[in-house]
Amino acid sequence: MRSRVLSGMRPTGALHLGHYHGALKNWVRLQAQYDCFFFVADWHALTTHYEEREVMERYVYDMVIDWLAAGLDPEQSTIFIQSRLPEHAELFTLLSMGTPLGWLERVPTYKDQMDKLKDRDLATYGFLGYPLLQAADILIYKAAYVPVGEDQASHVELTREVARRFNHLYGRSSDFEARAAVALAKLSKDDARYFEKQRKTFGETGAAEAVAKAEGLLKKAAGTIEGWSTDDTDLLTGHLRGSGKAILVEPQALHTEVLRLPGLDGTKMSKSYGNAILMRDDPAVVTKKVRGMTTDPARVRRTDPGDPEKCPVWQFHKVYSDDATQAWVVKGCKTAGIGCLDCKQPVIDAIVAEQQPWRERAEKYLANPKQVHWIAEMGTERARTIARHTMKDVRDAMGLNY
Ligand code: TRP
Ligand code: SF4
Repeated sequence: MRSRVLSGMRPTGALHLGHYHGALKNWVRLQAQYDCFFFVADWHALTTHYEEREVMERYVYDMVIDWLAAGLDPEQSTIFIQSRLPEHAELFTLLSMGTPLGWLERVPTYKDQMDKLKDRDLATYGFLGYPLLQAADILIYKAAYVPVGEDQASHVELTREVARRFNHLYGRSSDFEARAAVALAKLSKDDARYFEKQRKTFGETGAAEAVAKAEGLLKKAAGTIEGWSTDDTDLLTGHLRGSGKAILVEPQALHTEVLRLPGLDGTKMSKSYGNAILMRDDPAVVTKKVRGMTTDPARVRRTDPGDPEKCPVWQFHKVYSDDATQAWVVKGCKTAGIGCLDCKQPVIDAIVAEQQPWRERAEKYLANPKQVHWIAEMGTERARTIARHTMKDVRDAMGLNY
C-alpha cells in the first residue's frame, strides 16, 4: 500500500508562480508515488480573513482550477474542501480539550504572523488555534507525510506532539494488553519472541534501533500474514512503545527542495503586494510585468555594468534558464554587453511556454465549472469515508461512544 501524503493551501484566489514553484509542482510530482490528499483550507483562511464572505467561493474554485491546470489529476489525487468535512472541526474540538495553551502560544508562526499582519485584529481564539486545526487536518487522515515549506515545520512538529499526547492519554483501554496479546499470537513463535525481545530492550535502554527492528517486523507481517489488519499494527506499535494503541499517527514533514521566486520588485511574491505573476496571466501581461521588473539599481544607463546577484531577474533565470543562457546573462550583465530588456526576454519566453499547458487545461475547466465542483465533491466524499472512520476510533478511545 502506498503511504499517504496530505497537504493543504489556503484559498487566496488565482495562484501565482511562487505557489507553483514553491509547492504545487511538488504536489504534482508526489501524486504518482503516494496516495495523495490535497485540500482547500478555507477555514484556515478565515482565521485571518474572517470577514471575507464575498470572495471565498470564488477563491476556492479558482484555486482548484489552478491545481488541475498545473496537472493534479483527480484520478490519482483526492482533492477536497475542508469546510465540507465537519469531522475536521470535531477532531479540532476534541484535541483542543487537552492541548496546553503554551504549546500554541509558543508556535513561532503565531507571533510572526501577528507582527506581519498588524493591520488585522488577530487576538482571536481561532487564530491561536490555527496550528491545532492543521493538526486535526493531518491526523484525521493518518497521513505519513506532509509536504510543507520550512515555515510550516513547527506546525507538523506540534501535530506530532498532539498525536503522541493523545495516544498516551487514550491509547490504553482496559483490555489493551489482552488485545495486543491476540495480535502478537498472529506472528510466528520466533517472530513473536524476537518482537518481545526488542520491546524489552527498548523499555530498558530506550534504543531507537530496537524499535526500528520491531517495526520492521510488523511491516513484514502486514505484507505476509493473512488476516493481519492495520489495527494489529497499531496495537503492537503501542505495545512496543509502551504508549498504548497508536490511534493517531505521527506524521513527518516532507521538505523537498523548492525554488524560491521573488516578486517583480524583488520582495516575496505575494498577491497582496501586487508583485505577482499569476499562473493564468496572458502572455501579454507576463511580458509587460517582466519588462517592468526591478533590476540591479546600479544599471541606470544601458552602458552601466551590473551584478546579477543584486537583481531579481537573475533569480528567475536560475529557475527558468539553462546553463548557456545563465552564462550569457552573467557575462552580459557584468560587462554591460546586454541590456536589461535583452536579459528579460528569455525569462518571458520560458514563462509563457511553461504556462501553455496550464492555460489549455484551465480553459476546459473554466468553460465547465460544474466539472470542477464535481471533482471537489468526489474528493470530499472519498475523504469523508476516512475521516469518519478515524473519528469513530477517536470517540471510542475518548469514551464518547454512547
Ligand atoms: N497552514 C498551511 C499553509 O498556510 C495550510 C494548511 C492547513 C495545511 N492545513 C494543513 C498544510 C494541513 C498541510 C497540512 O500553507
Ligand atoms: Fe538584471 Fe539582467 Fe539587467 Fe543584469 S542585465 S541587471 S541580471 S536584468
